[in-house]
Amino acid sequence: MNIHQLLQQKFKAALIAIGAPEDAPTPVSRSTRVEFGEYQFNGAMALAKVLRQKPREIAENIVAAIELDDVVEKLEIAGPGFINIHLKNQWLATALDTVAQSARLGIEPESAQTVVVDYSSPNLAKEMHVGHLRTTIIGDVVVNTLEFLGHKVIRQNHMGDWGTQFGMLLAHLSDKLKASEVAATALSDLEDFYREAKVRFDNEQGFADRAREYVVKLQGGDTHCLELWQLFIDVSINHSEEVYKKLKVNLQRSDIHGESAYNDDLANVLRELQAKHIAVESQGAQVVFIDELADKEGNPAVYIVQKSGGGYLYSTTDLAAIRYRSTVLKADRTLIFTDARQALHFKQTEIVARKAGFIQADESYQHCPFGMMLGKDGKPFKTRTGGTVKLADLLDEAIERAALLIAQRDADLTVQEREEIAAKIGIGAVKYADLSRNRTTDYMFDWDTMLSFEGNTAPYLQYAYTRVQSIFRKAGLDATNFNAPISIEAPQEKALAVKLLQYVDALNQVSVEATPHVLCNYIYELASLFMSFYEACPILKDGVAEQTKLSRLMLAAITARTLKSGLELLGIETMEKMG
Ligand code: ARG
Repeated sequence: MNIHQLLQQKFKAALIAIGAPEDAPTPVSRSTRVEFGEYQFNGAMALAKVLRQKPREIAENIVAAIELDDVVEKLEIAGPGFINIHLKNQWLATALDTVAQSARLGIEPESAQTVVVDYSSPNLAKEMHVGHLRTTIIGDVVVNTLEFLGHKVIRQNHMGDWGTQFGMLLAHLSDKLKASEVAATALSDLEDFYREAKVRFDNEQGFADRAREYVVKLQGGDTHCLELWQLFIDVSINHSEEVYKKLKVNLQRSDIHGESAYNDDLANVLRELQAKHIAVESQGAQVVFIDELADKEGNPAVYIVQKSGGGYLYSTTDLAAIRYRSTVLKADRTLIFTDARQALHFKQTEIVARKAGFIQADESYQHCPFGMMLGKDGKPFKTRTGGTVKLADLLDEAIERAALLIAQRDADLTVQEREEIAAKIGIGAVKYADLSRNRTTDYMFDWDTMLSFEGNTAPYLQYAYTRVQSIFRKAGLDATNFNAPISIEAPQEKALAVKLLQYVDALNQVSVEATPHVLCNYIYELASLFMSFYEACPILKDGVAEQTKLSRLMLAAITARTLKSGLELLGIETMEKMG
């Protein structure tokens, strides 16, 4: 039951009944203050001209014509012609009961689309660093939400597993193997390995030439080179998979469709662009001039698809990827999560791809940019010595810090419980601190804030969930299997019920805008409303009437289910107790 849609439908019908045009908008929004009811309609003012009536008069006519008797307690005309909508407690109780009886919390699958989601996509030459945290977890939440809403999601881990730097890496690896080192050992620290190779590339006579030969051989399909490459890639993918496991991110090998997968198609892409006169020669390179993105002087943007030496680029690969996703994967929509610095690249890629007909006219292609993770000093997040922070190390530190916190709380937990909870809190905190910010802005990484049990943090939400569990434990009941008639009386009960019914709105918004923070805000508000409800409306205290107690338990149970569902979509684990 979607309140918003229902109200819109009813207002639409009422508008038509009073003679408004068929396409008159029905702006229904949430009220900002309880006195104004739960929702507001503010479409009367815009109709004054068309209907040649005063807005207040129009509002009165709408109120007289609308059929909402079962749903609203009163409709109040305010100001110049706003209509304040006060929902009926009885109706809310029934609607909430319907939600409670459904395994999916009343969320009906949307008309399903095939959505390709390109996320995580680390570069395999190095280990995953903090820059890949955001793409990995933001993408994961959007994927989870789209699937929950019934869409067919195809994950594409567009790993950077190809390109010139592999020449130097393979040459170095080949020497190590010749010196009887085992690949897994040689590559146990990819950063060190990369550094060593780079030093040789820059300083050692003849090494750079060998590296270049390796690139040519690799791209030409030389078996020995491909074997070396495969060895390297496998070890590096293992590193990424360890991170995914720690992060509880659901990316499988079968989701990997890296840059190398497009290698054989790059020449075709170029040929097609040339045949359509989209790509032309310029200073020995093949380029597309993009007039749509011309600078102030009118010079078109230059998008290179083949370097003068014949090499292909990141852009060529993305053109091949667009076409593959459209024709083979049959995408209706593609979402790509990378940092904001790549925004221009994707804008250009889309323009070129549309010109070339690589993508259907009605197919959407959405680059979803995100800002940077900053240290407390406001500068890009680095290690104390100024190096890039390995994601794996950051996550280990999160778990260690959470373990310390739990130890301080002097909890009554076994060693094993402690370890499990520390992992859930530590990883949850890092993820939530990131997810709860609007992705387009930079944010400051701060251990103390994210691990706090107060405020908009993962520990606070995990705690709210355990709070409900402990109520049920005390009552000797099972929250997951609880059922009782709901009756809504206190304002805190009403506020909680309305919020619970708005879960679907939050999910729909995440699905459209690819913004996990909307779900975070929702969960946080829900948890806060629950806390206020719990303070104002005693449940297990003496003197609470049996029916009231059962109804309040039911509200608590639905809250717990919604919290758990939302946190699951956010990839944040819950626990039954924290200590
Ligand atoms: N490997 C790239 C990076 O680490 C991200 C790839 C994003 N996807 C794409 N289709 N280009 O920055």
